[in-house]
Amino acid sequence: MRYITTPIYYVNDVPHIGHAYTSVAADTLARFYRLLGEETFLLTGTDEHGQKVEASARAEGIAPIDLADRVVKRFQRVWERLEVAPDDFIRTTQPRHAIAVQHLFRALLAKGDIYLGQYEDWYCTPCESYWTELQLDTAGHCPDCHREVSKLAEESYFFRMSRYQEALLAHLHSHPHCIEPEIRRNEILRFVEGGLRDLSISRTTFAWGIPVPDNPKHVVYVWFDALINYLTAAGYPDDAERFARQWPPTVQIIGKDILRFHAVYWPCFLLAAGLPLPEQLFSHGWWTIAGAKMSKSVGNVVDPNQIIDRYGADPFRYFLLREATFGLDADFSEHALVRRINADLANDLGNLASRVLTMVQRYGGGRWPAAEGAAVALAGEVAATLEQWRDAMAHLAFHEALKAVWHLIGRLNQYVVENEPWALAKVAADRPRLDGVLRDLLEGLRCVALMVSPVMPGKGRALLAQLGTPELVAPAWGGPPANTPLGETTPLFPRIEIEPPVTGPPPTPAKPHSTARPPAKAKPAAAAQGGPPPAEPPAAPGLIPLDDFARVELRIGVVQEAAAIAGSDKLLALTVDLGEPAPRTIVAGIAQSYTAADLVGRRVVVVANLKPAKLRGVRSEGMVLAAGDGSGHLTLITAPAGPPAGSRVR
Ligand code: ME8
Repeated sequence: MRYITTPIYYVNDVPHIGHAYTSVAADTLARFYRLLGEETFLLTGTDEHGQKVEASARAEGIAPIDLADRVVKRFQRVWERLEVAPDDFIRTTQPRHAIAVQHLFRALLAKGDIYLGQYEDWYCTPCESYWTELQLDTAGHCPDCHREVSKLAEESYFFRMSRYQEALLAHLHSHPHCIEPEIRRNEILRFVEGGLRDLSISRTTFAWGIPVPDNPKHVVYVWFDALINYLTAAGYPDDAERFARQWPPTVQIIGKDILRFHAVYWPCFLLAAGLPLPEQLFSHGWWTIAGAKMSKSVGNVVDPNQIIDRYGADPFRYFLLREATFGLDADFSEHALVRRINADLANDLGNLASRVLTMVQRYGGGRWPAAEGAAVALAGEVAATLEQWRDAMAHLAFHEALKAVWHLIGRLNQYVVENEPWALAKVAADRPRLDGVLRDLLEGLRCVALMVSPVMPGKGRALLAQLGTPELVAPAWGGPPANTPLGETTPLFPRIEIEPPVTGPPPTPAKPHSTARPPAKAKPAAAAQGGPPPAEPPAAPGLIPLDDFARVELRIGVVQEAAAIAGSDKLLALTVDLGEPAPRTIVAGIAQSYTAADLVGRRVVVVANLKPAKLRGVRSEGMVLAAGDGSGHLTLITAPAGPPAGSRVR
């Protein structure tokens, strides 16, 4: 079984996009394995004990469990909205968990790995961590959060971590991939080589926790309590049959801030318990806002609900996994999110889907053509992408997996241009080839839909339904029988035209749009006359605000055909592919600079949102850009190879 875990989230916090990141990544991995037909178990939950929760509840005048119940609902609601679908949601306040923690505590006490002693050291209350003098930062504060620490002495139970130092080192050396990325494994190796101290695992200064068995004056330290959740959810200690099938975890996904707890304390507890260690711990990076770590205390946290309301769950999931390299930090901004939605989703994938489905409706009767005689020119390329995708997903390189899929999307768009189905449709003898091309495209798109479905479950399902192949199966070249009807075609990813409002600085400061003409010159006398100074210097005449320019939609087009227009020696009628279901006709006054033959295959820049106009009786749906040198000769502005037809030029 593939057992995948996220950390359990603190109920002293509210869900933000950092939490969403860990959960979306784990859910995506779980969906990937399910798609491949593997038995998979995804665990998430909430971490509900500790001094901070007790203090927050007291401040509100409520019981800690009431605070927890309220926050847990918020987490569950956001996971539902994001289609994060765990097989189990564990709460550390559940009786099954107290049983597991107390069982392990007793077992380790009995074998002498837990002992009662006296603890004295520097304690950071917000982090619930003790630090030695040497570990404090240069200001004598907590090395993690840099807040003040206080000297604390208390009777405490200790876990004999020092006993497991050598066994842990041996494991780290013999399992080179047990911590990923490698930089994190090296960090942990250095830490363990520096020596492990016994760990205080009980507290007497507050009561909101799991009581130590037979000594209820003590509650179990939150990290000992919390880490054991992974065992509880696998059936420990009583459901031996389930435990044997589920343990150990295949991958535990965490953020780098909780690496040490998971990479040092946790395996030592398991070694002491004589249990197999998790196969892999993957530590991802942080989402920052304008370069600063997102945190409640800085006040820059982004509520995932707000992002889902504006852009939808799937585009948000896609952005999280495509924008960041899993393992490294990345900066979150809605501008970057909107860019990805418009370029990758609306333009690349959305346009490909709509043009292929429209062509099959128009030229193929809305049904899958027969496989016999199909071109199958794409089978090899799709198979290669599938292999890259599978490999990258299994290594949690989500960004690489998506890059490979988008490369295929580009290839499919190019395949449309190369094969010109609209031209094949005009010639009866080309019917078999047209069927082959359409089937290739449908099948390529079906594989794309399956490959994106772990990341964007809703859109994956929608695209598969539109293709008439709703089955969520392991992606492989094949496709349904001939004559399978397509579903109803609806746009998958509407383009976002609005300025994103909440997070992140805009790329260029946009001035408020005004239709009033600015004065030709500022009135220098205004201030001298005692009037208020102008709010900002007036713009020079003829300049337009950025948002005026932003209304012009420039796109890359590929010329498919060019023909002279009767009665004109200047105009040519171009057939231009803009990545849309059908090419456009654009009339261009370039006949004196180019012959029709010169133009086929050229990648031009098109004003795509110009109102159509009739020129010499031909309806023109846009304009191509060209530069004049004053002599009447025009040079077309051409686009370099790379971005596919329809890409936006900015
Ligand atoms: O640490 N960017 O819970 P938690 C990326 N209860 N990830 C972030 C982030 C950010 N800005 N902020 C937080 C706890 N995270 C413990 C876990 S497990 C036995 C106990 C990630 O709610 C963080 O790295 O504070 C962690 O993986 C997860 O959110 C939970 O954080």
